[in-house]
Amino acid sequence: MSQAVATNDLTTTRAPFIEDSKGRGDMFIPQPYELYSDRNQEAWRRLYERMLPRWEKYANEHFLEGIERLAIDPKQVPRLDDINRFLKPLTGFEAKAVAGYIPAYRFFDCLRRREFPTTITIRDVDTLDYLPEPDIFHDVSGHVPMHTDKDFAEALVRIGDVARTAAEKYAGFSDRDRALRELDSVIKALARFFWFTIEFGLMKHPQGGVRVYGSGLLSSFGEIAHSVDSPDVQRYPFQLEWVVNQYFEIHHYQPLLFVVDSFDHLYGEAERLRQWVMSDKVANVSPGEPLVNAEDLRSFLDAV
Ligand SMILES: [Fe+2]
Repeated sequence: MSQAVATNDLTTTRAPFIEDSKGRGDMFIPQPYELYSDRNQEAWRRLYERMLPRWEKYANEHFLEGIERLAIDPKQVPRLDDINRFLKPLTGFEAKAVAGYIPAYRFFDCLRRREFPTTITIRDVDTLDYLPEPDIFHDVSGHVPMHTDKDFAEALVRIGDVARTAAEKYAGFSDRDRALRELDSVIKALARFFWFTIEFGLMKHPQGGVRVYGSGLLSSFGEIAHSVDSPDVQRYPFQLEWVVNQYFEIHHYQPLLFVVDSFDHLYGEAERLRQWVMSDKVANVSPGEPLVNAEDLRSFLDAV
């Protein structure tokens, strides 16, 4: 491993541009393309090059179409403006550069408005395999190609609607302690739904077996194959009761994944979750990961 050198580029966790933006409290930021160093560009090239054959083997066909439709350049970190020129006419979605963490409500509300908060930094070329933070490879070549598909896009917007429904419901509560307690559970349920679908979802393949549509898998060289091929992974038909009560851990390959039939199916499940928010069915889900922080709770209470 080579030494981490202090530079002014856009390497994950050590980009001065990002730290300055956070310091100013900026949520949406420009993409200062000139700051990508040769090392950043090399990381992109290597990540893309080694993923391509795996996508061809394991990725959902709508993802493969998406890569084509966005004309993503395998050789250079993409410019979000270029991506959006192709993306927006297809589904109305656009990738918007952000400085980092966004409170839960703001994040889901972006989806509702067809804006995808997108990280612009890239992992260091020495740590291609694993990093806990999202980077532009995860966001642009894991998430964004899926946003070219109309049915997927509608499902994603519906997930954003779940957050809106929750915010509207709890805005009307006079008992603030109860609102906080129940919102904690609702946000947990929503985060688990997002995790087991948008991040780690599998879909039935017309020719048998399953293919990957979850971005956490699509951007992981090791886990994409493991998720489909390994006998160590439990793969079950998507079941909402289970998903909203299932905790997850982020620092290892997922032992349990859920399979949807189609993006129409996914849309229907997101709508069911929205109805469950209204009927109190997810107001007291099983405890455990993910933890909901005070800022996430406040973002919902202050939304309406
Ligand atoms: Fe993600």
